[in-house]
Amino acid sequence: MIIFKIFTFINLSTLVFAEIYNFPNNFIWGAASASYQIEGAWNVDGKIPSIWDTASHKNNSSIRDGSTGDDAGMSYYYYEKDIQALKDIGFEVYRFSIAWTRILTKANQVNQKGIDYYNKVIDGLLDVGIQPLVTMYHWDLPQYLQDLGGWTNPAIVKYFEVYADTLFASFGDRVEEWITFNEPKTFCNGGYGEGWDAPEIKTVGNIGSYLCSHHVLLAHANVYHLYKNKYFTKQQGKVGICLDTTFSFPANENVTDELVDKAMHFSLGRYANPIYSADGDYPSVMREAIDQKSENEGRRWSRLPHFTTAQIESLHGAADFLALNYYTSSLIQPYSHLGWNIADSDSEIHSFHDDSWKRSASSWLVSVPEDDGRVEYLREHLATMSRAITDGCRVEAYTVWSLTDNFEWMKGYTERFGIYAINFTDPERPRIPKKSVDLMKTSCS
Ligand code: NOJ
Repeated sequence: MIIFKIFTFINLSTLVFAEIYNFPNNFIWGAASASYQIEGAWNVDGKIPSIWDTASHKNNSSIRDGSTGDDAGMSYYYYEKDIQALKDIGFEVYRFSIAWTRILTKANQVNQKGIDYYNKVIDGLLDVGIQPLVTMYHWDLPQYLQDLGGWTNPAIVKYFEVYADTLFASFGDRVEEWITFNEPKTFCNGGYGEGWDAPEIKTVGNIGSYLCSHHVLLAHANVYHLYKNKYFTKQQGKVGICLDTTFSFPANENVTDELVDKAMHFSLGRYANPIYSADGDYPSVMREAIDQKSENEGRRWSRLPHFTTAQIESLHGAADFLALNYYTSSLIQPYSHLGWNIADSDSEIHSFHDDSWKRSASSWLVSVPEDDGRVEYLREHLATMSRAITDGCRVEAYTVWSLTDNFEWMKGYTERFGIYAINFTDPERPRIPKKSVDLMKTSCS
């Protein structure tokens, strides 16, 4: 049974909005975070380096303020402050990720100190009645695996399975809900196609990104079945994946519905279709466009890999829920309307924000600035989500991004997504509530 599970952000700033919430009594509220963004302790207790340690430590790194996640919010030491912050709001779920680099050594041996740390977090949450919702992979790939090609090497599928098996065996007695991957669109495109995210590899024709997606999907399906076959009888938990997308709207009346569908398929369908659709494969509109372009380029094989029949069967239906990270909307129009011919865009769709839309404190997110703005943004989001539920959408939970200010990847500490502020020069790292905390308190009470 497939349900929408988690939204982190939504923004329909172009719509007139009525602040009427109508959430069912059993609706679940929480906050989200990710290991590299909050933990610090980058080389402590047997943790091995990740691709983000590499990206942030290199000379002239691409990180906007030259910072690193070496210390960040120090959740490795101050996880109890995080738990207290969640409890103060009245949240019922905490979505956090586990660092692969703390769990297994280079020789794939279990690092007990890493297990001990997450046991403390999980037990601490359960002690105060907060459910742990664990993301297995939120972008901090062990560097030694990247040295083998990372997500472009088919061998990664087996490595991920061994890691996931260790997580189920160690924590599955207490964790009931698992997210295999966070936002593969972003880490595959950014990391292996366009090169703006770790491991900063740019590939011709987006080939690295397509290989990454392919192996992520296969790894997800393997882990889903591993859980069902080996753990489900005892643990009775759920396994899903977290996808991200913007929502596309036509830029003008000449833009067809087919084009809007195509844009959504290149963005969301690339990952959702193989798992959630009846045919269990990449969207046909994407397959046709890339196959055709590959042929035009004189390639013998398409840049978009093919699944075998067995792989399609294994992917089809391999999720108990869908977690959706939805931030903002885009207008779209075809390059041909603009007289553009951009060889390396397979969709040939231009996606952009209307200049009149409100902007956010974040450089890429359309909304409104500072925390007053975020309160407005969240209110609109919650009201819209509530309306969607009334309209029949099965949304069961919402986790806001993010619990605390943290290391915002290539933006370093220049963008602060926390509903609690952190002063990163204060050695105690107190979690200081922003106005959004009050909103979340009221919403979930
Ligand atoms: C979602 C990503 O999962 C998270 O890691 C990031 O910090 C936020 N988007 C904000 O960009």
